[in-house]
Formats: sequence, C-alpha cells, structure tokens
Amino acid sequence: MNKLKSIILAVSALLVGASCNGQTTKNQNNMGKSIVIFFSHAGDNYSVGNIEVGNTKIVADYISEIAGAEQFEIVTHKYDGMAYTPLTRLAQEEANKGELPPYEGSAPDLSQYDTVFIGGPVWWGTYPQVMFTLFKDINLDGKTVYPFTTHEGSGLASCVSDVKKAFPKANVKNGFSIYGHEVRTEKAKVEKWLKGIGY
Ligand SMILES: Cc1cc2nc3c(=O)[nH]c(=O)nc-3n(C[C@H](O)[C@H](O)[C@H](O)COP(=O)(O)O)c2cc1C
Repeated sequence: MNKLKSIILAVSALLVGASCNGQTTKNQNNMGKSIVIFFSHAGDNYSVGNIEVGNTKIVADYISEIAGAEQFEIVTHKYDGMAYTPLTRLAQEEANKGELPPYEGSAPDLSQYDTVFIGGPVWWGTYPQVMFTLFKDINLDGKTVYPFTTHEGSGLASCVSDVKKAFPKANVKNGFSIYGHEVRTEKAKVEKWLKGIGY
C-alpha cells in the first residue's frame, strides 16, 4: 500500500513539475487556433524595387513564426511580371469597376480557426480586388479578425472598414499597418503589435 502511495505521489509530482516548469511551447497563448490569410505581390514594387518576396508575405511569415498561425496565401498570376506603373493602372481600373479577379485553387476551410489575420498591400486605398473575391467565398461569423496592411503612406486606408463590411458577424479588431519598405528591418514592430494583442 505504501509503495503504491509513493508511486502515485511520484507520478503526481512529475505531472505537476511538467506543467509548472515554465517550459511552455513557444507559441502557446489563449487565442485559439489561428491562420493568416494574405495576398502579396512579388516583383517590381514601389520604393523597394524588384523584390523576390512581397512585403506582406514577410509580415505574414513573422505572424506565423511568432503567433504559430497557419497560412493561406491568395494567389493570382494576373499580375506576374508587370512593371509597377502599368500594374497601378490595372489595379485602379479593377477597383473602379469593382472587378473580382479569380484566385488559384479553392477557398480554405476555416471552421477550425478562432483567430484570422487578414493582410495585404494597400492598393488604391484598400486591399487588392482579388482579396475581395476570396472574402465572398469564406465565412468568418463569430471569429476574431485582425486586419493588417503594408503600404507606402496610406496606413490602414479603408481596409478595416472594408473587412467589417465584408464580415459583419465577425469580431473585427483594430488593424496593424507597416510601411512596405520597413518590413525587412522592423520585425520588432510586428512583435510589439502581437504582444499587445496577447501573443
Ligand atoms: C497597384 C498598387 C497600388 C498601390 N496603392 C497604394 C496606396 O493607395 N497607398 C499606399 O500607401 N501604397 C500603395 N501602394 C504601395 C504598396 O501598398 C506597398 O508597396 C506594399 O508594401 C506592397 O506590398 P506587397 O509587396 O505585399 O504586395 C500601391 C502599390 C501597388 C503595386
């Protein structure tokens, strides 16, 4: 009996030790399961020249690393290889006409996620139109949503209000924005934002 008691005590001590030794997994938090949905345009871009990895993708990668979020990248080949100026004209035309260019593949199943980060560059005062194509295909009812942008002066522009419009039943929080030309050197700003919201 005594032997059994001491085994139980030893096992309990081990279990308590395991949960109290401070070795929580790096991304443990109370925010539930999270995903970053983003669009980012590599290639010729404003201020940063011809880039292999888009500015917003760099921020999305920081979020995944820091918050343990999975990713869904909205991909279209419509703008591949375009120089910056013609791209701005095409994007303006799409925005004016409210065009919804198709994205590659199919919409993600978001049922398992509690928190959804939505990010993209500011194009003519809001997100690129292809993001709105995806917005029509996903349901964020009841989810916590953090919009973010990379930009060259417009900040969040109308992205947060446009996300609220697209997902009236989501809990859309304040957004985060960062200059595109800063993302490679200012990871600390992303860390600070995420820390501020509980990561
Ligand atoms: C078509 C187009 C339109 C843009 N419009 C704006 C704008 O209205 N406001 C702004 O601050 N930056 C604007 N930019 C700059 C981008 O928002 C910025 O470079 C961003 O970091 C690009 O992100 P990405 O590399 O992830 O695509 C525009 C860039 C492009 C290509």
